[in-house]
Amino acid sequence: MRGFCGKKMSVVLALMASTTMAQAEDVEVLHWWTSGGEAAALGVLKDNLASQGIGWVDMPVSGGGGEAAMTTLRARVTAGNAPTAVQMLGFDIQDWAAEGALGNLDAVAAAEGWDAVVPGALQAFSKYDGHWIAAPVNVHSTNWVWANKSILDGLGIAQPKTWDEFVAAMTAVKDSGKVALAHGGQAWQDATVFDGVVLSVGGTDFYKAAFVDLDPAALGGEQMVEAFRRMEILRSFADDNFSGRDWNLASAMVINGEAAFQIMGDWAKGEFLNAGKVPGQDFLCFRVPGSEGTVSFNSDQFAMFNVASEGAKAAQATMAADIMSPAFQSAFNVVKGSVPARTDVPNDAFDACGKQGMADLAAASAAGKLVGSMAHGHANRAAVKNAIYDVVTAAFNGEYDAAKAANELVSAVEAAK
Ligand code: GAL
Repeated sequence: MRGFCGKKMSVVLALMASTTMAQAEDVEVLHWWTSGGEAAALGVLKDNLASQGIGWVDMPVSGGGGEAAMTTLRARVTAGNAPTAVQMLGFDIQDWAAEGALGNLDAVAAAEGWDAVVPGALQAFSKYDGHWIAAPVNVHSTNWVWANKSILDGLGIAQPKTWDEFVAAMTAVKDSGKVALAHGGQAWQDATVFDGVVLSVGGTDFYKAAFVDLDPAALGGEQMVEAFRRMEILRSFADDNFSGRDWNLASAMVINGEAAFQIMGDWAKGEFLNAGKVPGQDFLCFRVPGSEGTVSFNSDQFAMFNVASEGAKAAQATMAADIMSPAFQSAFNVVKGSVPARTDVPNDAFDACGKQGMADLAAASAAGKLVGSMAHGHANRAAVKNAIYDVVTAAFNGEYDAAKAANELVSAVEAAK
């Protein structure tokens, strides 16, 4: 760690010298990391900055997936009061860059050699017009299931390998009187589940045709109808109180032995770890059955807004260098549940789920099976994402049957494009 800090400090000093010797100011950071596991991970970042004399002004906006945070951000920028750094996802970063609101991180990126170590799939969002405008802190993926091991063991249920086995396992749990599927009925959570379900039905090609290329034949075809049928089945395994529940409370149901499964991105692992649970012993992590091989990823990045003072610029450079150091990427992602955003970080410090996440990411990337998460803004821009959210949530809540939902998806996406 010390070695990296030393290198980082020299980079920052070089950057500061190239502008004026400014004293780094505090950073004001807008983010939505407010659950127990998320806050623990954020603490790693705060402490790292504090060790370099940079203070943290917290601007938390709760709400998983970050929709509320993005609304607050818009209001702040409109009022001419942009935060120093903002947690941001995928196409939102590109949209803010297109507005000319983001600062340029080329100097720190060049000094630290980011081009060589950040995967291309992430650079597509961290760079705009060839310039670095955000520092990726992690890679999450959405097509995961989290399971309470003692419930499965007690019922003699093996880890399901196929969709049918998954449904059979949920049936056995429900019959036992426990909740089979812990779910929070919020649009972004419904959509997160849908990422994995769409992959389980049609794999990488179908997912890309629907969510990236927005091909009406994929959005409205038989496979999409099947995906909505699977959502109806999942809904039948949730408890009666799922509506509006926060994702971390759904995770807590699995942690506490009230429910057997949750389909959620690997930020859920942060909740299990924060509760002192151990993978393989207390809980299982596995890909949504039928989606193995493909990884639907999202990467939290810190976008740096245009700031006037040299002290604020120096703080941004320090924070960006900090985020990208291999030691920090390991320390942070071990706690967060995600995997590093650079390819040269050793997996030693990661638990079994983290090691699997790293291996899955590398394999999917090599095989052309790494896809951007629709639910978390990495497949298409916010307008399209929100149109898909609306249909998925309406269908999940029983407003449309599966065939009608697929039809509605075609027209909603068409109107939003
Ligand atoms: C995602 C984000 C994760 C996690 C999750 C739930 O969009 O990438 O880091 O925070 O929302 O809040």
